[in-house]
Amino acid sequence: MCGIVGYVGPRDAVPLLLEGLHRLEYRGYDSAGVAVAVDGGLRVVKTAGRVGDLRKAVPEGTAGATGIAHTRWATHGEPSDRNAHPHVDAASRIAIVHNGVFENSDRLRARLVADNVPLASDTDSEVLAHLVARSSATTLEDAVREALAQVEGTYGVIVMDADRPGELVAARRGSPVVLGVGEQEMLVASDVTALVRFTQQVIYLDDDEIATVTADGYRTSTMDARATTRSPTSIDVASAEYELGDHPDFMYKEMREQPEAVDRCLRGRLDHRFSSARLDGVGLTPQDYQRIRRVKLLGCGSAYYAGQLGAQLIEELARIPADAEPASEFRYRNPVVDPDTLYVAISQSGETLDTLAAVQELKRKGGHVIGVVNAVGSTIARECGHGIFLHAGPEVSVAATKSFTTMAVALAMLALDLGRVRDLSITEGRRLVTGLARLPHQIAQILAGEQEIEAVARKYARAEHMFFVGRVRGWPAAREGAQKLKEISYVHAEAYQASELKHGPLALIDPEMPTVVLVPDDELLAKNTATIEEIKARGGPVIAVTDAELPAGLATDVIRVPKAHDSLAPIALSVPLQLFAYHLAHALGRDVDRPRNLAKSVTVE
Ligand code: G6P
Repeated sequence: MCGIVGYVGPRDAVPLLLEGLHRLEYRGYDSAGVAVAVDGGLRVVKTAGRVGDLRKAVPEGTAGATGIAHTRWATHGEPSDRNAHPHVDAASRIAIVHNGVFENSDRLRARLVADNVPLASDTDSEVLAHLVARSSATTLEDAVREALAQVEGTYGVIVMDADRPGELVAARRGSPVVLGVGEQEMLVASDVTALVRFTQQVIYLDDDEIATVTADGYRTSTMDARATTRSPTSIDVASAEYELGDHPDFMYKEMREQPEAVDRCLRGRLDHRFSSARLDGVGLTPQDYQRIRRVKLLGCGSAYYAGQLGAQLIEELARIPADAEPASEFRYRNPVVDPDTLYVAISQSGETLDTLAAVQELKRKGGHVIGVVNAVGSTIARECGHGIFLHAGPEVSVAATKSFTTMAVALAMLALDLGRVRDLSITEGRRLVTGLARLPHQIAQILAGEQEIEAVARKYARAEHMFFVGRVRGWPAAREGAQKLKEISYVHAEAYQASELKHGPLALIDPEMPTVVLVPDDELLAKNTATIEEIKARGGPVIAVTDAELPAGLATDVIRVPKAHDSLAPIALSVPLQLFAYHLAHALGRDVDRPRNLAKSVTVE
C-alpha cells in the first residue's frame, strides 16, 4: 500500500521523484505529493488524485537536489489534499512520507494537541513529522530513531530535514524499504519498481533497520543503534519489463506475457528422466517429503485461490490432505502448528502484510514454511528462505494474471514432486510432465482466440450480477474468475460450487442473471452438463468455459480451450476468464489497471 520514494544527489529531484511515483502508482493512487529542499526550507506540493494530477500541480521551476514523494492508499483520513503526504511539522522543517499504519496515532495525536502542536491532517502518519521535530537528538537519524520508538504499528518511512539538505533517513518495520545505489546519488523507495530505471544496485532494508543516505553513500544500523553491514545486490530485472510498449494497459500486457511467463516458471524444473519436477529451492529431501502428513497453503486474494487450486492438485496427485486458507484468517485464529505439516506461503509481491505475518507466526511456532513468490528479494521470500520463485517477471496491474497462472503451475510442480516421492506412478508422472510442458503453447492458443472471448464479454456487459460456478477442480478457477470480474469491472460476481447452486442460489437465476460454468472434460462432465440444464430450465443464460465437446445448443455461449491434462485443466480454464473480465471491464469504460479502492501490494492489515 502507498508508494514512497526519495532522492538525494546532484540532479533535480522533482522529475525523478515524479517518475518514481508513476512507477509505484499500483501501490495506491488516491492522492500524491512531493517535498524538496529549497533555499533552507521545504517546498511541498500535494493533491488528491493521481500522480498525473500531481505532475500538473507542481509549479514550473520547482527544483531541489533532495526530495521525498508519496502516492497514497488511504487508511486514516479520506483522500484529500490535506491528508496527502508528505506531512511536515509546524515549522515546515521536517517532512515525512509513510507507508504502513501507526496504530497508536490517536494517543500520540492527543498528546501533541495537549502540547499545542497544530495538526494539519486526519492521518496517523503526520505525528511522525512532529515527533522528529521535537527531538533534541543531534543527528536526524537519532531523531527519527527516537520518534519511531514512540509509535506502534508498521512503517516504511523516509524523513528529510530542511536544515540538513543532502541527507535522507529511511527506516522500516513490516513495510518494505529499498535503497538504490547510483553514481554519486542515492534513491530510496518502497520497492524496486521505482528504482530500476536509475540503478540495478539495491539494498533491501531488514525490519527494524534504519539508514542515512547521502549522495555519496549510506549507513545502516538497527533501531537500537548497532551498525549493520549491507552491500548492494544486483536486480536482474531490465527496466524495459516495466514499460507498457505497444500495449493499451498493463493487465493486457501481463495476460499476453503468460506463455512466456509459464515457460520461464517451468524452465529447468521438469525432470523428464524421473517424470517428476526438480525444485531445488524447496530445500527438502525425499525423506523430508515422506514425513509430510498435511499441506497448508496460505495467501490472500488471487494467491489464496491459486493456493486452493494447488491444494486440490496436491491431494489429487500426492494423496496428502491439503487445504488453503486466507493468510489473514490463519494468523488471527491462533492456529495449531504441526511439525508434520508443510506450510506454503503464496504471494506475487512477497510483501502482503497478512501473508508475511502468517509466515512469521508459523516460524515462531516452529512450523516449516516455504514460499511460492514472484518478487525475488521480497520480505516473504527472505523470511521463508526456501521455496519456488515464479519467474513471471514484474506484474504491475492490480489484477493478478500471469502471477496467478504461474502460482498454479509452480504448485502443480510441487504436487507432482510430492506425488512422485509417494505413490504417483512414473507413467502418470510422465503424462503430467508432458501436460505441463504443453501449457505455454495451449495458453498462447487461448490468447489467440481473444476476439471470440471479447465478443462474449461485450454481449454480457450490461449484466448487473453474474454467477461463476465450478465443481472440485473447477471451483478455485471459478472463484478466481469471479474475483477478476468484480475487481476490475465492478459487476457483482459470486462464485459457487456447482453442486451448491440448488441449495439456494438457484433462486436468483432468471434471464438477467448470466452464469459462467466451468466444464472440464473430466469424470464430472455429466454433472456439469446437468448443472447447465438446470440453469437453462430457469431461463438463465449460460456461458460454458470448457475443454470438452459440448452438445450444440447446450450453453448459450461457449468459450473453448485446448484439452489439457485433467489435473491441469483448471489452469487453462482460468485464462479465458481473465480475458472475459478484461473485455467486459473495457466495455464499461473502467480503468482496468487501477480499479477503485484497491491496490496491488497490500502492506497494511
Ligand atoms: C491484492 C491484489 C490482488 C492480490 C493480493 C495478494 O489484494 O489486489 O491482486 O492477489 O493482493 O497479493 P500478493 O502480492 O501477496 O500475491
